[in-house]
Amino acid sequence: MDSFELNKVAGAVLGALLFAMGTGFLAELIYKPKPAGDRGYALPAAQEAAAGGGAPEAAKDEPLPVRLASADAAKGQSAAKKCQACHSFEKGGPNKVGPDLWGVVGRAKGSHEGFNYSAAMKAKGGEWSYEDLDHFIHGPKAFVAGTIMAFAGVPSGQERADILAYLKGLSDKPVDFPKP
Ligand code: HEC
Repeated sequence: MDSFELNKVAGAVLGALLFAMGTGFLAELIYKPKPAGDRGYALPAAQEAAAGGGAPEAAKDEPLPVRLASADAAKGQSAAKKCQACHSFEKGGPNKVGPDLWGVVGRAKGSHEGFNYSAAMKAKGGEWSYEDLDHFIHGPKAFVAGTIMAFAGVPSGQERADILAYLKGLSDKPVDFPKP
């Protein structure tokens, strides 16, 4: 019964064209009032979707040099509290679960004295650039498969940049940020 009434209402609203397009009357007519509403917004919605298609890119992190240009070492210091469970940050500080991070920027990977690194870290090679640190802190296991740093990573690109700004200061000879 209801479906007949809907049928009439929707039929009146939608007219012959939609009927021609429709296949199952019942499903069509219960369903159509919504699509008919959607239709009105279809174009702007499509544009939003297009803009939305761009949004993930915009939401993607800015390039590191850009993030570093606006990074805040004080914020980085408080963000780095979550690292302190495992790392000390003082000059000559102790190795804990992880190695002391004083002077880590520019340091050869897996090279801090007295710390027993994973084979994966020792094999990684090269020095810790800001780029590499950014990747590692984003997803330790993604950057060094087999690392024993049991840390999920810092998802926010700006927070990582803040942490790097903090790490920059933990040095007698701070390494310059890469230029944007
Ligand atoms: C649950 C403990 C834990 C936490 C939390 C943690 N780390 Fe680590 N980190 C480790 C361990 C263990 C290693 C050694 C990894 C290896 O040998 O594979 C390490 C290694 C590193 C290294 C490489 C150091 C070197 O000498 O090569 C960096 C850089 C680092 N961590 C930064 C951070 C930062 C920044 C944070 C916070 C955002 C953090 N870690 C949080 C345990 C941790």
